[in-house]
Amino acid sequence: MDFLFPSNTPRRSLEASAAGTTLRGARRNAAILVTGAGGEMGHGLLEAFARERATAGEAFPAVIAIDLRELPESHRRLCDEAFTGDVCDEKMLERLLASYEIGAIYHLAALLSTRSEFVPEIAHGVNVGGTLNLLRIAAEEAANNGRPVQFFFPSSIAAYGLPDLEAKNAAGSVGEDRFLQPHTMYGCNKIAGENLGNYYAHHYRKLASDRMEFPVDFRAIRFPGIISADTVPSGGTSDYGPEMLHAAARGESYACFVRPDARIPFMTMPEAVAAIRGLMAAPRSDLSRVVYNVQSFAFSAEEFLQEVRKHFPDADTGFEPDLARQSIIDSWPASCEDATARADWGWSPTYDLASAFDDYLVPRIRARYES
Ligand code: SER
Repeated sequence: MDFLFPSNTPRRSLEASAAGTTLRGARRNAAILVTGAGGEMGHGLLEAFARERATAGEAFPAVIAIDLRELPESHRRLCDEAFTGDVCDEKMLERLLASYEIGAIYHLAALLSTRSEFVPEIAHGVNVGGTLNLLRIAAEEAANNGRPVQFFFPSSIAAYGLPDLEAKNAAGSVGEDRFLQPHTMYGCNKIAGENLGNYYAHHYRKLASDRMEFPVDFRAIRFPGIISADTVPSGGTSDYGPEMLHAAARGESYACFVRPDARIPFMTMPEAVAAIRGLMAAPRSDLSRVVYNVQSFAFSAEEFLQEVRKHFPDADTGFEPDLARQSIIDSWPASCEDATARADWGWSPTYDLASAFDDYLVPRIRARYES
């Protein structure tokens, strides 16, 4: 199936591009490709690129978006061209390369952890097959352009799989290299993506005589749960945090699907986007690994509810744990060790739990629902 439907007009003509002639024989626009651009993180990233472009001007590459669904206008106006299509569709990706010289890929498209458990084989196809397609494109572009293509991969706390709650409580803050036996298909897919990225960066076509050293500059962050003031996620297992907050702000009742003592780390969406840009801007020589943990604050669902009630005292929130979803949370660390991200590329959270509510979440959420 071919899903290539350009859904807006490129702002700059191909002829006006500063990009050079390539092996494909045509002049192509230098571009950054964002997959899954219609998702929560996609919007934040597109906004960050728009801000950076305002400073850099025409030197900033074109921003090309792909999403399975047509992008809403709020996202579309932030990119030069938007394609509606599937990351598993190799033909679509090939056709995109006819017009654009991709220098960086931000591969955000994925099925999240809860949804993936209902359709594990489809999740594997999208989450691993899609990632493999994009990595292959990156390697091909690197060979064409004669330089590595930057590749950002959002991995996840779901990559971890602590055997049980007792082990989780005993483990404390978990570093990048421990407990990598995930209990979910999504977690397995994220580990696969991390390993494939490392392979494309350091070992791709190991036995080929014409192989290129380091075609893909692959960098990944294992994100904790993410809370946005602007959107509510869908299909994830950490969704109880944002769902609880947004329901309270809307004056709706909410039944939290994990126990009050369920604890994992979180961060806000602006911090997640800042982390992506921070990692991608770091000099390669400063990076000691390809996959980094980050987090801002860790809390139990009960502690989160207390914070919600400080701002929305009438929040009608109860706990109705879903044992299966709870078991996924019990297999994720209560806290992730992010010392290497701090040391290598200067990661530092902006907020703790209270300041995230005071300075980011509550003002924006109130403006959103009370306007
Ligand atoms: N937020 C994601 C999920 O719950 C974890 O990366 O699936």
